[in-house]
Amino acid sequence: MDLSTRIGPLTLKNPLIAASGCFGYGVEYADLVDLSTLGAIVVKGLFLAEREGHPAPRIVETPAGMLNAIGLQGIGVHRFVEEKLPELRARGATVIVNVCGTTLDEYVEVSRILSDAEGVAALELNISCPNIKEGGIQFGCSLNGTFDVVSGVRKVTRLPVIPKLTPNVTDVATFARAAEEAGADGVSLVNTFLAMVIDVETRRPKISNIVGGLSGPAIRPIAVRMVYECRQTVKIPILGMGGIADARDALEFMIAGADAVQVGTANFVDPLIWSKLLDGLADYLQRHNIARIADLVGSIDIRARDQEWISS
Ligand SMILES: Cc1cc2nc3c(=O)[nH]c(=O)nc-3n(C[C@H](O)[C@H](O)[C@H](O)COP(=O)(O)O)c2cc1C
Repeated sequence: MDLSTRIGPLTLKNPLIAASGCFGYGVEYADLVDLSTLGAIVVKGLFLAEREGHPAPRIVETPAGMLNAIGLQGIGVHRFVEEKLPELRARGATVIVNVCGTTLDEYVEVSRILSDAEGVAALELNISCPNIKEGGIQFGCSLNGTFDVVSGVRKVTRLPVIPKLTPNVTDVATFARAAEEAGADGVSLVNTFLAMVIDVETRRPKISNIVGGLSGPAIRPIAVRMVYECRQTVKIPILGMGGIADARDALEFMIAGADAVQVGTANFVDPLIWSKLLDGLADYLQRHNIARIADLVGSIDIRARDQEWISS
Protein backbone atom coordinates (compact mmCIF):
# COMPACT_ATOMS: atom_id res chain seq x y z
CA MET A 1 0.00 0.00 0.00
CA ASP A 2 1.50 3.31 -1.09
CA LEU A 3 0.65 6.26 1.18
CA SER A 4 3.13 8.65 -0.41
CA THR A 5 2.07 11.88 -2.06
CA ARG A 6 3.83 14.52 -4.12
CA ILE A 7 3.84 18.27 -3.64
CA GLY A 8 5.64 19.46 -6.77
CA PRO A 9 9.23 18.25 -6.49
CA LEU A 10 8.73 17.10 -2.89
CA THR A 11 7.63 13.53 -2.09
CA LEU A 12 6.04 13.02 1.34
CA LYS A 13 5.92 9.55 2.89
CA ASN A 14 2.27 10.10 3.75
CA PRO A 15 -0.23 12.95 3.30
CA LEU A 16 -0.54 13.86 7.01
CA ILE A 17 0.98 17.23 7.90
CA ALA A 18 0.93 19.17 11.17
CA ALA A 19 -0.59 22.61 10.52
CA SER A 20 1.24 25.82 11.36
CA GLY A 21 0.67 27.29 14.79
CA CYS A 22 -0.81 24.09 16.21
CA PHE A 23 2.39 22.07 16.55
CA GLY A 24 4.89 24.66 17.82
CA TYR A 25 8.27 24.24 16.16
CA GLY A 26 7.73 20.47 16.15
CA VAL A 27 10.41 19.80 18.77
CA GLU A 28 7.94 20.44 21.62
CA TYR A 29 6.05 17.30 20.54
CA ALA A 30 9.10 15.10 19.99
CA ASP A 31 8.65 13.11 23.21
CA LEU A 32 5.05 12.27 22.29
CA VAL A 33 5.20 11.81 18.53
CA ASP A 34 7.91 10.28 16.34
CA LEU A 35 8.34 13.33 14.08
CA SER A 36 9.77 11.22 11.26
CA THR A 37 6.45 9.36 10.88
CA LEU A 38 4.56 12.50 9.82
CA GLY A 39 4.33 13.45 6.16
CA ALA A 40 5.67 16.85 7.21
CA ILE A 41 5.52 19.48 9.94
CA VAL A 42 4.65 23.10 9.18
CA VAL A 43 6.25 25.13 11.93
CA LYS A 44 4.79 28.28 13.50
CA GLY A 45 4.89 31.35 11.27
CA LEU A 46 8.22 33.22 11.23
CA PHE A 47 9.07 36.83 10.52
CA LEU A 48 12.62 38.18 10.30
CA ALA A 49 12.53 39.36 13.91
CA GLU A 50 11.03 37.91 17.09
CA ARG A 51 7.44 38.90 17.89
CA GLU A 52 5.48 38.89 21.11
CA GLY A 53 2.02 38.53 19.64
CA HIS A 54 -1.15 39.86 21.26
CA PRO A 55 -1.81 40.02 25.01
CA ALA A 56 -3.98 37.34 26.65
CA PRO A 57 -6.71 36.20 26.35
CA ARG A 58 -5.81 34.97 22.90
CA ILE A 59 -7.87 31.80 22.63
CA VAL A 60 -11.49 30.91 23.36
CA GLU A 61 -13.47 27.74 22.71
CA THR A 62 -16.49 27.92 20.40
CA PRO A 63 -19.08 25.32 19.39
CA ALA A 64 -17.05 22.64 17.57
CA GLY A 65 -14.02 24.87 17.27
CA MET A 66 -11.91 27.65 18.67
CA LEU A 67 -11.20 31.30 18.07
CA ASN A 68 -7.62 32.52 18.28
CA ALA A 69 -5.74 35.76 17.87
CA ILE A 70 -2.20 34.84 18.84
CA GLY A 71 -0.83 37.61 16.61
CA LEU A 72 1.95 35.47 15.16
CA GLN A 73 4.14 35.27 18.25
CA GLY A 74 7.44 33.75 17.22
CA ILE A 75 11.20 33.52 17.68
CA GLY A 76 12.14 34.94 14.26
CA VAL A 77 13.87 33.17 11.42
CA HIS A 78 17.46 33.45 12.70
CA ARG A 79 16.79 31.82 16.07
CA PHE A 80 14.69 29.15 14.34
CA VAL A 81 17.57 28.22 12.05
CA GLU A 82 20.06 28.14 14.94
CA GLU A 83 17.97 26.64 17.75
CA LYS A 84 15.23 24.46 16.24
CA LEU A 85 16.27 23.30 12.80
CA PRO A 86 19.23 21.14 13.94
CA GLU A 87 16.99 19.07 16.25
CA LEU A 88 14.28 18.75 13.60
CA ARG A 89 16.94 17.52 11.18
CA ALA A 90 18.32 15.05 13.72
CA ARG A 91 14.86 13.65 14.34
CA GLY A 92 14.26 13.06 10.64
CA ALA A 93 11.34 15.50 10.33
CA THR A 94 10.28 16.86 6.96
CA VAL A 95 10.11 20.57 7.73
CA ILE A 96 7.94 23.11 5.97
CA VAL A 97 8.38 26.66 7.25
CA ASN A 98 5.44 29.06 7.44
CA VAL A 99 6.88 32.35 6.18
CA CYS A 100 5.39 35.68 7.30
CA GLY A 101 6.03 39.26 6.31
CA THR A 102 4.74 42.75 6.87
CA THR A 103 6.19 43.75 3.48
CA LEU A 104 6.98 41.93 0.25
CA ASP A 105 10.69 42.41 0.96
CA GLU A 106 10.34 40.66 4.31
CA TYR A 107 8.74 37.56 2.71
CA VAL A 108 11.59 37.49 0.21
CA GLU A 109 14.31 37.94 2.84
CA VAL A 110 12.92 35.30 5.25
CA SER A 111 12.59 32.89 2.31
CA ARG A 112 16.14 33.57 1.16
CA ILE A 113 17.54 32.87 4.65
CA LEU A 114 15.57 29.61 4.91
CA SER A 115 16.71 28.53 1.44
CA ASP A 116 20.33 28.74 2.59
CA ALA A 117 19.62 26.70 5.72
CA GLU A 118 20.03 22.94 5.76
CA GLY A 119 16.91 20.89 6.39
CA VAL A 120 14.01 22.99 5.07
CA ALA A 121 11.85 20.99 2.64
CA ALA A 122 9.44 23.72 1.49
CA LEU A 123 8.18 27.24 2.18
CA GLU A 124 4.54 27.89 3.03
CA LEU A 125 3.82 31.60 2.52
CA ASN A 126 1.42 32.87 5.14
CA ILE A 127 -0.51 35.53 3.22
CA SER A 128 -3.66 34.72 5.16
CA CYS A 129 -3.23 35.36 8.88
CA PRO A 130 -6.29 37.36 9.98
CA ASN A 131 -4.69 38.46 13.26
CA ILE A 132 -2.05 41.02 12.29
CA LYS A 133 -2.42 44.63 11.25
CA GLU A 134 0.19 44.86 8.50
CA GLY A 135 1.05 42.40 5.75
CA GLY A 136 -0.32 38.87 5.84
CA ILE A 137 -3.94 38.83 4.86
CA GLN A 138 -3.65 42.14 3.00
CA PHE A 139 -1.54 40.30 0.42
CA GLY A 140 -3.81 37.25 0.53
CA CYS A 141 -6.98 39.27 -0.08
CA SER A 142 -5.56 40.90 -3.21
CA LEU A 143 -4.96 38.96 -6.43
CA ASN A 144 -2.01 41.21 -7.29
CA GLY A 145 -0.64 40.89 -3.75
CA THR A 146 -0.86 37.09 -3.94
CA PHE A 147 0.86 37.08 -7.33
CA ASP A 148 3.60 39.47 -6.19
CA VAL A 149 4.52 37.61 -2.99
CA VAL A 150 4.65 34.24 -4.76
CA SER A 151 6.65 35.48 -7.75
CA GLY A 152 8.97 37.53 -5.50
CA VAL A 153 9.81 34.48 -3.37
CA ARG A 154 9.95 32.21 -6.43
CA LYS A 155 12.88 34.27 -7.75
CA VAL A 156 15.07 33.69 -4.67
CA THR A 157 14.50 30.02 -3.88
CA ARG A 158 14.65 26.55 -5.39
CA LEU A 159 12.50 25.17 -2.56
CA PRO A 160 8.84 24.37 -3.28
CA VAL A 161 6.76 27.52 -2.74
CA ILE A 162 3.29 26.99 -1.27
CA PRO A 163 1.17 30.08 -0.51
CA LYS A 164 -1.45 29.57 2.18
CA LEU A 165 -4.76 31.05 1.11
CA THR A 166 -7.37 32.81 3.20
CA PRO A 167 -11.00 31.68 3.14
CA ASN A 168 -12.04 35.30 3.83
CA VAL A 169 -12.62 36.05 0.14
CA THR A 170 -15.56 35.50 -2.18
CA ASP A 171 -13.87 33.25 -4.74
CA VAL A 172 -10.86 31.44 -3.32
CA ALA A 173 -10.20 29.59 -6.61
CA THR A 174 -9.20 32.83 -8.35
CA PHE A 175 -6.50 33.26 -5.67
CA ALA A 176 -5.30 29.70 -6.26
CA ARG A 177 -5.06 30.54 -9.97
CA ALA A 178 -3.09 33.73 -9.27
CA ALA A 179 -0.69 31.66 -7.16
CA GLU A 180 -0.33 29.04 -9.88
CA GLU A 181 0.35 31.70 -12.52
CA ALA A 182 3.02 33.22 -10.25
CA GLY A 183 4.89 29.91 -10.11
CA ALA A 184 3.62 28.28 -6.90
CA ASP A 185 4.32 24.55 -6.50
CA GLY A 186 1.12 24.07 -4.51
CA VAL A 187 -1.45 25.91 -2.43
CA SER A 188 -2.44 25.39 1.22
CA LEU A 189 -6.02 26.14 2.22
CA VAL A 190 -7.65 27.21 4.40
CA ASN A 191 -6.38 29.53 7.08
CA THR A 192 -8.87 30.58 9.77
CA PHE A 193 -12.17 32.43 9.23
CA LEU A 194 -12.53 35.93 10.71
CA ALA A 195 -14.91 35.67 13.65
CA MET A 196 -15.73 37.04 17.09
CA VAL A 197 -17.18 35.95 20.42
CA ILE A 198 -18.74 38.29 23.00
CA ASP A 199 -19.34 37.70 26.71
CA VAL A 200 -22.90 39.02 27.08
CA GLU A 201 -22.61 39.52 30.86
CA THR A 202 -19.68 41.92 30.58
CA ARG A 203 -20.36 42.88 26.94
CA ARG A 204 -16.65 42.42 26.37
CA PRO A 205 -15.09 40.52 23.45
CA LYS A 206 -13.67 37.23 24.73
CA ILE A 207 -10.24 37.79 23.19
CA SER A 208 -8.06 40.86 23.53
CA ASN A 209 -7.79 41.45 19.78
CA ILE A 210 -11.64 41.69 19.61
CA VAL A 211 -11.75 39.57 16.44
CA GLY A 212 -9.84 36.40 15.68
CA GLY A 213 -9.64 33.35 13.45
CA LEU A 214 -12.08 30.45 13.73
CA SER A 215 -10.76 26.90 13.30
CA GLY A 216 -11.80 23.33 14.11
CA PRO A 217 -14.65 21.05 12.95
CA ALA A 218 -17.06 24.03 12.71
CA ILE A 219 -15.30 25.22 9.54
CA ARG A 220 -14.75 21.82 7.87
CA PRO A 221 -17.61 21.74 5.34
CA ILE A 222 -16.70 25.23 4.11
CA ALA A 223 -13.04 24.27 3.80
CA VAL A 224 -13.92 21.08 1.89
CA ARG A 225 -16.01 23.12 -0.54
CA MET A 226 -13.10 25.52 -1.08
CA VAL A 227 -10.67 22.67 -1.76
CA TYR A 228 -13.14 21.23 -4.25
CA GLU A 229 -13.46 24.59 -6.04
CA CYS A 230 -9.70 25.03 -6.24
CA ARG A 231 -9.26 21.49 -7.58
CA GLN A 232 -11.56 22.41 -10.48
CA THR A 233 -9.45 25.49 -11.21
CA VAL A 234 -5.74 24.68 -10.74
CA LYS A 235 -3.45 21.77 -11.58
CA ILE A 236 -0.89 22.33 -8.80
CA PRO A 237 -1.13 20.21 -5.63
CA ILE A 238 -3.47 21.29 -2.85
CA LEU A 239 -2.77 20.94 0.87
CA GLY A 240 -6.24 20.93 2.40
CA MET A 241 -7.18 21.68 5.98
CA GLY A 242 -9.91 22.92 8.29
CA GLY A 243 -11.32 20.91 11.16
CA ILE A 244 -9.80 17.52 10.41
CA ALA A 245 -10.28 15.42 13.55
CA ASP A 246 -10.20 11.84 12.26
CA ALA A 247 -9.23 9.77 9.22
CA ARG A 248 -12.63 10.13 7.56
CA ASP A 249 -12.27 13.91 7.67
CA ALA A 250 -8.84 13.65 6.04
CA LEU A 251 -10.25 11.34 3.35
CA GLU A 252 -13.06 13.82 2.66
CA PHE A 253 -10.50 16.51 1.81
CA MET A 254 -8.52 14.15 -0.41
CA ILE A 255 -11.59 12.96 -2.30
CA ALA A 256 -12.51 16.64 -2.82
CA GLY A 257 -9.07 17.21 -4.35
CA ALA A 258 -6.39 17.64 -1.68
CA ASP A 259 -3.06 15.90 -2.36
CA ALA A 260 -2.16 16.20 1.31
CA VAL A 261 -3.93 17.37 4.45
CA GLN A 262 -2.95 19.43 7.45
CA VAL A 263 -4.23 18.94 10.97
CA GLY A 264 -4.28 21.91 13.34
CA THR A 265 -6.81 22.38 16.14
CA ALA A 266 -7.23 18.61 16.69
CA ASN A 267 -3.68 18.55 18.14
CA PHE A 268 -4.94 20.52 21.12
CA VAL A 269 -7.62 17.90 21.76
CA ASP A 270 -5.49 14.82 21.10
CA PRO A 271 -1.76 15.19 20.49
CA LEU A 272 -1.59 11.45 19.85
CA ILE A 273 -3.97 11.70 16.89
CA TRP A 274 -1.29 10.95 14.26
CA SER A 275 -1.03 7.17 14.51
CA LYS A 276 -4.85 6.93 14.54
CA LEU A 277 -5.06 9.04 11.39
CA LEU A 278 -2.43 6.94 9.62
CA ASP A 279 -4.08 3.66 10.63
CA GLY A 280 -7.44 5.00 9.48
CA LEU A 281 -6.10 5.91 6.03
CA ALA A 282 -4.44 2.51 5.61
CA ASP A 283 -7.60 0.73 6.72
CA TYR A 284 -9.69 2.68 4.19
CA LEU A 285 -7.34 1.88 1.32
CA GLN A 286 -7.44 -1.80 2.23
CA ARG A 287 -11.24 -1.91 2.52
CA HIS A 288 -11.65 -0.15 -0.82
CA ASN A 289 -8.86 -2.09 -2.51
CA ILE A 290 -6.92 1.04 -3.48
CA ALA A 291 -3.16 0.53 -3.88
CA ARG A 292 -2.04 4.17 -3.90
CA ILE A 293 -3.55 6.96 -1.83
CA ALA A 294 -2.66 9.37 -4.63
CA ASP A 295 -5.36 7.65 -6.73
CA LEU A 296 -7.96 8.90 -4.29
CA VAL A 297 -7.16 12.57 -4.85
CA GLY A 298 -10.06 14.37 -6.53
CA SER A 299 -11.94 11.08 -6.99
CA ILE A 300 -15.30 12.57 -5.93
CA ASP A 301 -18.22 11.08 -7.85
CA ILE A 302 -20.50 13.95 -8.84
CA ARG A 303 -22.89 12.07 -11.10
CA ALA A 304 -26.49 13.08 -10.55
CA ARG A 305 -28.29 10.85 -8.04
CA ASP A 306 -30.60 9.37 -10.70
CA GLN A 307 -27.61 8.36 -12.87
CA GLU A 308 -26.05 6.70 -9.85
CA TRP A 309 -29.24 4.70 -9.44
CA ILE A 310 -29.33 3.70 -13.12
CA SER A 311 -25.69 2.57 -13.21
CA SER A 312 -25.80 0.57 -10.00
C1 LIG B 1 -3.63 28.71 17.76
C2 LIG B 1 -3.49 28.74 16.27
C3 LIG B 1 -2.33 29.32 15.70
C4 LIG B 1 -2.18 29.36 14.32
N1 LIG B 1 -1.04 29.90 13.79
C5 LIG B 1 -0.85 29.90 12.43
C6 LIG B 1 0.35 30.42 11.84
O1 LIG B 1 1.30 30.82 12.53
N2 LIG B 1 0.45 30.41 10.50
C7 LIG B 1 -0.56 29.94 9.68
O2 LIG B 1 -0.44 29.97 8.46
N3 LIG B 1 -1.69 29.42 10.21
C8 LIG B 1 -1.86 29.40 11.55
N4 LIG B 1 -3.00 28.86 12.09
C9 LIG B 1 -4.04 28.30 11.18
C10 LIG B 1 -3.91 26.78 11.06
O3 LIG B 1 -2.65 26.40 10.57
C11 LIG B 1 -5.04 26.21 10.15
O4 LIG B 1 -4.94 26.82 8.88
C12 LIG B 1 -6.43 26.48 10.69
O5 LIG B 1 -6.45 26.40 12.10
C13 LIG B 1 -7.47 25.48 10.14
O6 LIG B 1 -7.14 24.15 10.44
P1 LIG B 1 -7.71 23.37 11.76
O7 LIG B 1 -9.19 23.57 11.77
O8 LIG B 1 -7.28 21.94 11.57
O9 LIG B 1 -7.05 24.00 12.94
C14 LIG B 1 -3.19 28.81 13.47
C15 LIG B 1 -4.33 28.23 14.05
C16 LIG B 1 -4.49 28.19 15.43
C17 LIG B 1 -5.72 27.54 16.00
